[in-house]
Amino acid sequence: MKQKHRIKSKKNLVIIGAQWGDEGKAKMVDVLTEQVDIVARYQGGSNAGHTVVTDGKKFVFHQIPSGILHEGKKCVIGNGVVLDPIGLLEEMGSLVKAGVKVKDRLIISDRAHLLMPYHRLLDGASENRKGSGKIGTTNRGIGPAYMDKMARVGLKVVDLLEPAYFRRKVREVVKEKNFWLKKYFGLPGVDADKTVDAYLKISPQIKPLVADTTAYLESRLKKGENILAEGAQGTLLDVDFGTYPYVTSSSASVGGVCTGLGIGPQWLDEIYGVAKAYTTRVGEGPFPSEMDEDFGEKIRKRGGEYGATTGRPRRCGWLDLVALKYACRVNGFTGILLTKMDVLSYLQTIKLCVAYKVKGQLIQEFPASLRRLADCRPVYKEMKGWQGDLSQASQLKDLPLEARKYLDEVERTIRTPIQWVSVGQDRSQIFQKS
Ligand code: GDP
Ligand code: IMO
Ligand code: MG
Repeated sequence: MKQKHRIKSKKNLVIIGAQWGDEGKAKMVDVLTEQVDIVARYQGGSNAGHTVVTDGKKFVFHQIPSGILHEGKKCVIGNGVVLDPIGLLEEMGSLVKAGVKVKDRLIISDRAHLLMPYHRLLDGASENRKGSGKIGTTNRGIGPAYMDKMARVGLKVVDLLEPAYFRRKVREVVKEKNFWLKKYFGLPGVDADKTVDAYLKISPQIKPLVADTTAYLESRLKKGENILAEGAQGTLLDVDFGTYPYVTSSSASVGGVCTGLGIGPQWLDEIYGVAKAYTTRVGEGPFPSEMDEDFGEKIRKRGGEYGATTGRPRRCGWLDLVALKYACRVNGFTGILLTKMDVLSYLQTIKLCVAYKVKGQLIQEFPASLRRLADCRPVYKEMKGWQGDLSQASQLKDLPLEARKYLDEVERTIRTPIQWVSVGQDRSQIFQKS
């Protein structure tokens, strides 16, 4: 029997990073929140740094969905997220201070895993030990938290609400963590009871926010409300599809939406990939279209390319259409939201990476082997730059001809329509292309 529960007039949207993160997802989420009732994070944790700028005021979200600035909309932290409850309360506190109403608007999944202090310690220790072979993580404990989830020794939000069980379990887990911290990394261990006390102290503040979010989302969807699933990181940082091992530890691509929220794929209507008009990457790993140091620095300065979570300078490169086409495939993007077009103004020439050359061979597929990817040299198509400020553009017609040609060339190559074009940091600096 066919289920009749879809209200076609209100589409459910998914926003996914199409590159190595920091594509401007939060800005797009903020803009599109007007069209939905609920905004839900489905993976990642406080490694995310999501920036929204409105009327000159800047907000950076780490765990709270970027739709929170729209009063009346609900925000969900799904089961696929690894939740740092202490960080969450701090984030909520600073929003309240800034005059944002958070009460009764934030719902946390009882099934989300908890990020514990030992995860952070292990993240840092593991990176230090790797030395020059490090991943360049955000040092938020994300990898170790997902490791515990998969190893079936993680603690969930719901466990925090059962103090006796929580204490017993943490004591048990900490025995093993201390073995690693002390014997392998040569660091002091953690005190299980102090950790438990700190978490139980804040649990009364967390408890009212906790719910079975799968049931919540299903009931809202069946009532005809719609959701926007907000991705963190990006496809090339996805644990399956990214440049492994230089990736994060979660499913940042479309599959993560269903496992991270507990809703079926039939609910997903539009899958939007957010891409910068160029490319950036923070942390280590191959980056075929990376610009040379001087030019990269110029774009970094113009684009303000410094990490929203760690403040680290982002590596800058030209738009890589081999990688973007691959991201379109693995996510099934129905449209692209292109950000930061304004940053490319006033260049004589703009390059688009349309293929790679490896050992004299031309390839157009994004390689699985990292060794091969590291050997890839970009093949560029050069486009004439445009000489004008785009920051006031409010429709396609406002863009110089060369900028429109650039968009056409991107669309033609990736065979996916560009639906929105962003031309500045502010919420207002954006227009719908198609
Ligand atoms: P996210 O992690 O994908 O949400 O992106 P981040 O917030 O980490 O980084 C994107 C940065 O680019 C933020 O500082 C945004 O305010 C900024 N940004 C977003 N769209 C545009 C744009 O079209 N032009 C410019 N100049 N900045 C933008
Ligand atoms: P948003 O959501 C950019 C990168 C780190 C590192 C790798 C693994 O703001 O786009 P992790 O701490 O997750 O174990 O680090 O992934 N990384 C990000 N890069 N934007 C992010 O999030 C990122 N989250 C993690 O720099 O290379
Ligand atoms: Mg970011």
